[in-house]
Amino acid sequence: MDQLEGRVAVITGGASGMGLAFARRFAAEGMHLVLADVEAPALDAAVAELGAEGAEAFGVVTDVSDAAAMDRLRDAVLDRYGAVHVVCNNAGVSGSRAPTHELTTEEWAWCIGVNLWGVIHGHRVFSPLLIAQDEGHIVNTASMAGHTSFNGLSPYHLTKHAVVALSEVVYHELAASGSAVGISVLCPGFVNTRIAESTELPGEQAKQPLIDDEAAVAEAEAVRQMTRDFFAMQQSPEEVAEIVLDAVRTKRFYLFTADAWTDQMAERHEDIATGRNPRPRGSMIEEAFRG
Ligand SMILES: NC(=O)c1ccc[n+]([C@@H]2O[C@H](COP(=O)([O-])OP(=O)(O)OC[C@H]3O[C@@H](n4cnc5c(N)ncnc54)[C@H](O)[C@@H]3O)[C@@H](O)[C@H]2O)c1
Repeated sequence: MDQLEGRVAVITGGASGMGLAFARRFAAEGMHLVLADVEAPALDAAVAELGAEGAEAFGVVTDVSDAAAMDRLRDAVLDRYGAVHVVCNNAGVSGSRAPTHELTTEEWAWCIGVNLWGVIHGHRVFSPLLIAQDEGHIVNTASMAGHTSFNGLSPYHLTKHAVVALSEVVYHELAASGSAVGISVLCPGFVNTRIAESTELPGEQAKQPLIDDEAAVAEAEAVRQMTRDFFAMQQSPEEVAEIVLDAVRTKRFYLFTADAWTDQMAERHEDIATGRNPRPRGSMIEEAFRG
């Protein structure tokens, strides 16, 4: 897409991290913005910040895993602007860190609901509009975890592999039909956002802390602080937003943000091609230090 000024971008997970960085970057191009997020206070703050900088933006509190809420999001966008041109299916959570055999049904459903159903609903409600007008671009946020597999976070890996696969299929469908609509799949390495804080089920489903076990509480807080310190050193969301803007303009499909995991991706492909068993892997954070 060459002409971005005055066009409409919808960004899920737009209240924070990469989604908010996309919004700021698109606003600088004169785009009109719709931010959708489940966290109302953060959404209000993001919309207020963009408005104060002169952007045309509004927020819709939306749980992307909820089909009816995504229908309402589409209706709100069309009521306000009458069209949509760029759709960033970006909302996501880390999901539970528990080993696969310990995961509860609720933990699986939460991560799959946000990371996979959110993207599916985004396609269901917005892609027909883009295809009918034969113009626009879709950006699905996956992860390097969609091209690799490490020790732990299996719901996250599962959803991100699925988002890569879905995006590839849509790419082929658009190409085969001669559509002018473009699609990219964003596969970041580690980026400095709040993502690592989304490992606990939200709201009433959250596990209660073991308040009588001071040592366990202190250890959990120490792990959280180490994780925050680790993420603070990672790539900035603003750099990722530049990559996304360029892809919308040039129709690039695979978007890799950091090369730290290219070895692990190449090794996985080699193991598959040669029929070898997967080589030993640490956690995602341990593997990042290998790069
Ligand atoms: N930060 C990283 O290192 C990294 C790496 C690879 C991929 N990603 C992916 O990038 C995307 C954006 O995450 P981020 O890193 O900016 O993290 P973030 O936590 O800063 O932003 C995610 C946003 O999604 C929102 N969200 C969560 N559940 C939602 C729901 N049910 N409905 C609507 N919104 C919801 C959150 O409120 C938050 O504003 C995610 O899909 C994530 O998996 C992040």
